[in-house]
Amino acid sequence: MEYGFHGKNIGIALTGSFCTYEKVFEAIRYLADKGANLHTIFSNHAASIDTRFGNCQEFINRAKDITGKVPIITIPGAEPIGPKAMLDILVIAPCTGNTLSKLANGISDTPVLMAAKSHLRNNKPLVIFLSTNDALGMNLKNIGILLNTKNIYFVPFGQDNYVAKPNSMVAHIDFLPDTIGKALEHKQIQPVIQSPSPVVAV
Ligand SMILES: Cc1cc2nc3c(=O)[nH]c(=O)nc-3n(C[C@H](O)[C@H](O)[C@H](O)COP(=O)(O)O)c2cc1C
Repeated sequence: MEYGFHGKNIGIALTGSFCTYEKVFEAIRYLADKGANLHTIFSNHAASIDTRFGNCQEFINRAKDITGKVPIITIPGAEPIGPKAMLDILVIAPCTGNTLSKLANGISDTPVLMAAKSHLRNNKPLVIFLSTNDALGMNLKNIGILLNTKNIYFVPFGQDNYVAKPNSMVAHIDFLPDTIGKALEHKQIQPVIQSPSPVVAV
């Protein structure tokens, strides 16, 4: 289904699941091409760690090039998101187990979590694109909390490698636009659990 993203103010908050960045950046490009007004937010780790998946400053530059805006990389930078009603929707993509667990427990000690706290105060939707090796382990309780939290929606996710990483679950990148479209109507796209995931985390 085609959703009207033109002119929609969409925040994309990146956390340190670096293996998903290429796919997530394709989705950011897709939303930009559809005319969305995009703001990116980077967690402290997303903004400062170079990995085999790429250089953090290059990802920040790429986000700036696609969106035409300087990414938010500090807590003071993220704080006005709520008071200024900057976003129609915030998407944490990718969302690490670390950020997921903190969000579920009301912690706001990174730019991404500050953005989430600030945005949620306006009763607006927040989408989670999960990517974590402990989804069916330590973090299952936190997924449960967030699945049952008002204004929070999930990109359908599934086990990406049940043999080598039986607790790992990753969201399906192909469903990201439709999940955003539905969440803007305050609806959860279904089915929310879908395996196997086409994204293979390492
Ligand atoms: C190369 C690399 C890949 C990682 N991939 C993931 C991942 O896919 N999912 C995850 O939950 N954490 C992953 N991590 C761990 C997170 O980056 C780490 O928990 C960090 O504290 C997350 O902080 P943030 O949630 O504030 O970005 C990875 C770390 C590294 C160095």
